[in-house]
Amino acid sequence: MTSSARHPIGRLLVIGAPIALVWAAAGLVASSRLEAQLVRSDPDAAPAQARLMRFAMARGAGVFKAECASCHGADGKGNSARGVPDLTDADWLYGSGKVRDIEKVAYYGIRAHNPRSWNLAVMPGFARPVPSASERLAPLSPGEIAAVTTFLQSREGRPVDPVAAEAGRRVFAGQGGCYDCHANDARGDPAIGAPNLVDKVSLYGDGSRQALVDSIAYGRQGVCPARAGRLSALRLREVSLYVFALSHRPGQPSDKSPP
Ligand code: HEC
Ligand code: HEC
Repeated sequence: MTSSARHPIGRLLVIGAPIALVWAAAGLVASSRLEAQLVRSDPDAAPAQARLMRFAMARGAGVFKAECASCHGADGKGNSARGVPDLTDADWLYGSGKVRDIEKVAYYGIRAHNPRSWNLAVMPGFARPVPSASERLAPLSPGEIAAVTTFLQSREGRPVDPVAAEAGRRVFAGQGGCYDCHANDARGDPAIGAPNLVDKVSLYGDGSRQALVDSIAYGRQGVCPARAGRLSALRLREVSLYVFALSHRPGQPSDKSPP
């Protein structure tokens, strides 16, 4: 008879250690199976699978904290002073908030010079001598910038001077070339990353007149870094599902932007 069998604690160890090992091994097998399932599955099918989502959430939260929170905030709510969008609302500039849309940004970024990212326009700075090298646009005077700002505010439903708004409409539809990117109705063009200018969501600033003037006068070029090649397919899937879940909490409206 061995000493472990004679002592109750030793006996516990003899029985307990193999059980613990089997337990740990089973856990590893289960988690590598879930990992394989995560990477292979259709990304937009995953949210319906509760077990897979629970597994991805715990890990995705860690990836988000390490890779995304420095800009998008620990809570994912972004920073409008820096033009970093809220990822917890249902307003998407790129795609429609599907997991695969989020994943595309996680892989290739936005204006991150990755050939597989969206081919996006850049908002020209109309107070600069050459607003945009590629678009061949002429600068606007401070008065024209003020007028086109008033026009946008009138489209947002604010009470403004109608004469100035009409002058601004002509800039928008004429020499400013705004319609070319933001569409005639100013509702934007997601294909080139030109935002809707008449909804309640603004990417830059607090929705004030000054924030609009700054965008128009100095231009904008928001960059979200590409992560392809830096993070594994598994990590990118986990973080994309995590971001999807941030914006799809129970009771949240599925889309806040107007039709
Ligand atoms: C070449 C295409 C292009 C043209 C022309 C253009 N824009 Fe833009 N605009 C953009 C893009 C792209 C963005 C988004 C920039 C970003 O995401 O960093 C933008 C952003 C903006 C914003 C900020 C929106 C927000 O949500 O904060 C305003 C305001 C704006 N544009 C107004 C105008 C006005 C007014 C004109 C005409 C005088 C104009 N734009 C002309 C492409 C364009
Ligand atoms: C260096 C700052 C920075 C980091 C780090 C960063 N982002 Fe971004 N992200 C941005 C900015 C700025 C934009 C908006 C770009 C624009 O439209 O002008 C953006 C946009 C996005 C969008 C598009 C939102 C929409 O409305 O369509 C998604 C999705 C996104 N980021 C996900 C991520 C994820 C996931 C990570 C981490 C893997 C990450 N970002 C890391 C700065 C960052």
